[in-house]
This record gives sequence, C-alpha cells and structure tokens, in this order.
Amino acid sequence: MKRAWISEVAHHVGEDVIIKGWLYNKRSSGKIMFPQIRDGTGIIQGVVVKSAVPESVWEDFDRLTQESAIIVRGRVRQDERAPGGYELDVTGLEVVHLAEPYPITKKEHGIEFLLDHRHLWLRSRKQHAIMLVRHEVIRAVRDFFDDRGFVLCDTPIFTPAACEGTTTLFEVDYFGDEKAYLTQSGQLYNEATAAAFGRTYCFGPTFRAERSKTRRHLTEFWMVEPEIAYATLDDIMELAEELIMAVVERVLERRRPQLDVLERDTSKLEAIERPFPRLHYDEAVRRLHQGGLEFQWGDDFGSPHETYLSEQFDRPVMVHRYPAAVKAFYMEPDPERPELALCVDVLAPEGYGEIIGGGQRIASLSLLKQRIEEHHLPEEAFDWYLDLRRYGSVPHAGFGMGIERCVAWLCGLAHVREAIPFPRTLYRLKP
Ligand code: 4AD
Ligand code: MG
Repeated sequence: MKRAWISEVAHHVGEDVIIKGWLYNKRSSGKIMFPQIRDGTGIIQGVVVKSAVPESVWEDFDRLTQESAIIVRGRVRQDERAPGGYELDVTGLEVVHLAEPYPITKKEHGIEFLLDHRHLWLRSRKQHAIMLVRHEVIRAVRDFFDDRGFVLCDTPIFTPAACEGTTTLFEVDYFGDEKAYLTQSGQLYNEATAAAFGRTYCFGPTFRAERSKTRRHLTEFWMVEPEIAYATLDDIMELAEELIMAVVERVLERRRPQLDVLERDTSKLEAIERPFPRLHYDEAVRRLHQGGLEFQWGDDFGSPHETYLSEQFDRPVMVHRYPAAVKAFYMEPDPERPELALCVDVLAPEGYGEIIGGGQRIASLSLLKQRIEEHHLPEEAFDWYLDLRRYGSVPHAGFGMGIERCVAWLCGLAHVREAIPFPRTLYRLKP
C-alpha cells in the first residue's frame, strides 16, 4: 500500500492507501464513526463501520483525542456530499501518538490565547488557508521578477545605518565597540546592486521598532524590493501596478479553495484592473478636505486618511509626490516643485492602507550629502552609499512591497499578525 497525500487523493479513487496525519475532528453515530483526518495538505473524512473493522481498530478510534498522530489505511471513494469531494473507507489504524487534551477546541478562543498557541493554531483550517495564500503571493512575486530578468541580490540584515528613519531602528550589540542595526529595508544596497546588474531585487525580513499598535504594523515583516538603474518614478509606478496585478491574478487562479475557506468576497479582487488611478498628493489632500477630514497640507497621511482615499476606488490607488519633508532622506525632489519628492505610495482597496512605498532616488552627490546632514544622519556610515554618486551616478528608482499587508488584504484579514507564521509585534516575541 502506498502513502497518499490528502491533496492528491483524486488520483487514487478506488485504491487502498495509507494516510499519515492527525485526527482533526471526530463524530460518531453509534455503529459508524466519521474521523476527520488531516495530513497538512488537506482534510479527508474517514468512514469507520464498526461491523467492518477489527474490534481493536474501532476501540482505538474511539479513544483517539483531537490531534493524535495516526496512520490510517483505507480505500478512497469519490463522494459528492463529502466535504472535500472524497471519503476514505477505513480498514486499519495505527496510533502513533495519543495527544494530550488539545488546547484549541471548537469553542471561541480569544485572540491572545490563539496567538500564545500560534505553534498549534497554524494547524487550524483558516490559518492553514492564509499560509497557502502567503506562499502563493511569494511565488508569484518571485516569478514576476525572475521572468522579467531581475537578478535576486540578497541584502544584509545587520546594517551600520538607518534607511527609513532613526526612530524605528533595532539596535544590536556588534562585538562591543561597533553599533549595528537590524535592517529596515534593503534599498540602499539595492541601489548598489542595480548599478551592478541593471535590474535587481531583494526579498527578506525587515525590522522596524514600531511602537504603534495598529492592525497594519509588525516589528518583523517581509518585504520584496526591486530597484532599476536608469528608471524614473513613472517607470516604477508602472512596475508596481503590473506586480500587484500579477499577484492578484495568481492568487485568484490558484488559491480559490483557500479564499473560500476564509469566506473572502472575491468579487472585490476580481474587479481589479489596470490602470490604477494616480493621485497627486495635492489632489489627495483636496479629496480629504472635500470629505470633511481634518488634514494639514504637508503632513503624512495617517490610516484614517489612507482608508478614506482608498475607499473611493475599486482598485489600488497610487498617491505620488508627497512633501519631501515627511519622506526619507534619499528621495529625489520633483524638479518642478522641489518641496515635493518623486515618490509613490500604493494604497490597497478596502481600507488595507499602504502596501507599496517607493520612488526615485537622489542622483546628485552634493544634494545627497546635504540631505544626510539635514536628517542628522552620520555621514561616515553612508560613505559607501555616497560612492554610488561618485562612480557613474544615474537616475534610478525602486520600491518595497510588504508581504503581510498584501496577504492581509487578499485574504480579507482584520490584522496583519495572521499573515505571517510567527508574528512579532510590540508586545509579542513568543512563540
Ligand atoms: O514605505 P516603506 O517604509 O519603504 C521602504 O522601506 C523603502 N526603502 C522601500 C524601497 O523603496 N525599496 O515600506 C515599504 C512597505 C510598506 O508599503 C508596507 O507594505 C511595508 O513595507 N511595511 C510594513 N509592513 C508591516 N509592518 C510594518 N511595520 C511595515 N512597515 C512597512
Ligand atoms: Mg511608506
């Protein structure tokens, strides 16, 4: 008998197979038992008929506790009425491990309790579905860049300097005398690799000591960041639009069953089309004022503002040319209005907020030096970065897309913490 994965039972109809997994659930009607067996790839309902199996098999099933590890033998049968379309007529059972009373049961648990048990919670149907969507998003992102000739150049996690502002830096002791920080973004290194390879991207974990306790913030999150030499703001806005389209289409194409488990209203995702609206910062402010929201020209948007703006459209909206003063030090000024930066934030629909941030980088050595000084950053930590403006400086641009925010949006989650296997937030470092 061959081991079959539950996700592949369709290829084994009528065959006797072995399924290695855990007991997800069980119900019984006296002479017949319906164990739900999961193996990580799916869940299949078993049918155990008391009169058809050895007495020991029946008794073993009877004493099984939730999440006990089991090896089940049986014949696969197609059944329209069964939850996954297939059932297993059970003939044998080996109990590998009888689980202790499982902490996560059918009753409602509070979110903190579930997060404390994240290592077990991942086995639950919805969490399982979210991780499969996450995997698909990551695959789609990699395929997108790989297919377009971008070179993956991983950037370091220990860094000597800030990229996205000094208030959210995690400091690490680096052998005593030198200070190191966990990276906030691979961008500065991407600028070096873009000059070496033309089109590059990095994809890894990034860290922000965010004191904010919002549904959009993690202290550790994954970001994919492309960077292109000889590119402008317009070029990367187009790229951002294409990337988001590719990800949405891929998830709809391959992860329908998971979106169904999550009860996601997919019509909202299906409606997304190019082009995405491009909103100048001035225009965005005008809309906020029209809507009666309190907002001062020159400020950065908070989440109520982002939510208001995104709710006006049925697709992601690209807000560009924010005041340079509220953005990072490396932003190229708009030549027509130097108080504005050539940057873009892409806001997801349905109030999910910013999923992409990026723009064109300063190409001039003297301006970059000036900005580093204005932002009170230590110039010596950036000497290598300044070199990029000494040896063949060109216009270049790129962006970063947060994976968890994307997954939260695509899955329709209330909080980004469920979009990563083991979330790190202001108050959570465990498990
Ligand atoms: O807008 P951010 O800060 O941009 C950068 O870091 C640029 N250096 C990227 C670049 O141009 N290469 O972050 C980019 C994206 C945000 O749009 C958001 O999706 C995500 O990263 N992000 C977070 N996700 C979860 N938790 C947080 N604390 C996040 N901070 C940013
Ligand atoms: Mg941003």
